[in-house]
Amino acid sequence: MPISIAIIAFMDSLTSIDLRGASLFPLDQPELREQQSRLGSYQICCSDNIAFMRELPPEKLQLIVTSPPYNIGKQYEKRSRLQDYLDGQRQVILECARLLDPRGSVCWQVGNHITADGEVVPLDAILYPIFKGLGLRLRNRIVWHFEHGLHCSKRFSGRYETILWFTKTEQYRFNLDAVRVPSKYPGKKYFKGPRAGEFSCNPRGKNPGDVWIIPNVKANHVEKTDHPCQFPVELVERLVLSMTDAGDSVLDPYMGSGSSVLASVKNGRRGLGCDVEPKYVATAQRRLDDLYAGRLRTRPMGRPVYDPRFPGGSRK
Ligand SMILES: C[S@@+](CC[C@H](N)C(=O)[O-])C[C@H]1O[C@@H](n2cnc3c(N)ncnc32)[C@H](O)[C@@H]1O
Repeated sequence: MPISIAIIAFMDSLTSIDLRGASLFPLDQPELREQQSRLGSYQICCSDNIAFMRELPPEKLQLIVTSPPYNIGKQYEKRSRLQDYLDGQRQVILECARLLDPRGSVCWQVGNHITADGEVVPLDAILYPIFKGLGLRLRNRIVWHFEHGLHCSKRFSGRYETILWFTKTEQYRFNLDAVRVPSKYPGKKYFKGPRAGEFSCNPRGKNPGDVWIIPNVKANHVEKTDHPCQFPVELVERLVLSMTDAGDSVLDPYMGSGSSVLASVKNGRRGLGCDVEPKYVATAQRRLDDLYAGRLRTRPMGRPVYDPRFPGGSRK
């Protein structure tokens, strides 16, 4: 669908675009039709996020997940004074708090800002007081570890970033069963005490914990697009599945290549997103078209990072 149509339809109402039309798939491809029946809908827009969010009604979003610019001079941002950057973030976070359902979550994924003289400023630390000041409650500070990145010569190379997960209230959605991972010793049983002989771990798997080892999207990643800093879809999928239910609405106000929208639509949610750069919105649109056509390749959740059965230790 052309972007202009998406924008107009978006302005009409939150429920205006639903792409679950049967005509997208030929009748002789039942597996594609089945996949399509599970997909959600989306609304994407080429717009500044504040303008986009101000058009949305309050308390209708169950999850807001995003990664803002880090104020480090990437191709999609201008470096500014740190205080100006924080003031800008505060405006966006304020809008997010307004839009969030009372049982909803905000996930802010950030790394470090590096000052002109090379000092490291952890963005999660300086953004935390903004969320806290708005009454949001921190549930986890998730460490996302990956192997690829810049090689530093004057400090240790950065190989993790964080996700601050806040909820609006104490009554929040958390579907742990949807994101359990295989237990280390699945058949292990209590060998003494009143529960001797019973399985000592949950047969549905274990809690994934708050250190997530997920490859970042670099040149040979199956999801790589023209965006320099895209989310791996599997990272967002874990957040979407654990923090929302089917049919819920998920927003990424710094959408980039659309990974959050894809992760939402792929799992039967409504994905909303905006980005100021037309070329990234076009990339997101193309990936959504590929998803609906059944040809989008994503790295599956739960695939081991290192698998000795494949050359180089990973399946492409
Ligand atoms: C770190 S990237 C996000 C990448 C995204 N997570 C993905 O999966 O591709 C930040 C994005 O924010 C966009 N951006 C910067 N300022 C913006 C604003 N005021 N409103 C909307 N988007 C903005 C940039 O164009 C860039 O694509």
